[in-house]
Amino acid sequence: GGSGSGDKAELASKLPKKIRDAGVVKVGTDAAYKPMEYKEGAKIVGLDPDLADAMGKKLGVRFEFTNGTFDGLITSMQTGRFDMIMSSMTDTKDRQEGLDDKGKKAGKGVDFVDYLTAGSSILVKKGNPEKVDKVGQMCGEKVATQRGTTSHEILKAQTDKCVKAGKKKIDVEPYDTDDEARVRLKTGAVVADVSDFPVAANAAKSGSDFEVVGDQMESAPYGMAVTKENTQLRDALKAALNAVIKDGSYKKALAKWGVE
Ligand code: ARG
Repeated sequence: GGSGSGDKAELASKLPKKIRDAGVVKVGTDAAYKPMEYKEGAKIVGLDPDLADAMGKKLGVRFEFTNGTFDGLITSMQTGRFDMIMSSMTDTKDRQEGLDDKGKKAGKGVDFVDYLTAGSSILVKKGNPEKVDKVGQMCGEKVATQRGTTSHEILKAQTDKCVKAGKKKIDVEPYDTDDEARVRLKTGAVVADVSDFPVAANAAKSGSDFEVVGDQMESAPYGMAVTKENTQLRDALKAALNAVIKDGSYKKALAKWGVE
């Protein structure tokens, strides 16, 4: 064939031999983050799986997503349960260096291939009955979020600020999934659910019980994560991502899921 298949062979040659031979890249995700990754029946769908599909076409492999708890994805990858993580995971210094939320060494750290940018947002009930549009207004309030996320970190940091200012702590309720956090908001048990903007915006689509208030906080890149040792997979992902950006399939996938 033409240059198309030539590129494909070249990209495939970048993959670790084990993956190329298996024809499958195993991906860990928390599939409760619509529209990024979520379950439709038994199938995991969304923007991340679509981007992975597009990259798979370039690399000549299939990306196979498995569901796991977000807070445990890095540990699961380190123990070999999958080759990479694609889960709207923010590329943070702590994750790169394997630090816990106190900045102490806790694990091995990972490498990221950045592919999108998003920050955290505040989701409230429609009409914003509690009149909160900043985390600074949440001292003394009950707020739900997903455990181990950057949104959880923002709330913990704000809680410290509340205490320093002589106010009550935020009563942070961390859940394994953002879906659970949103149920708490729906029942009125919490004043807000803090999660990533694309997810909050999706939950606030017309006809829903929710709205997004305030500005995005701490916008930062999402990265596909691999172990520090897996530089070959990292570089293959980078090349495949560039290829899907170049041929327009990246932009198409974002438009399909209403993410910019
Ligand atoms: N971007 C945030 C973080 O990295 C939240 C990601 C949550 N992803 C998910 N699939 N639930 O902490």
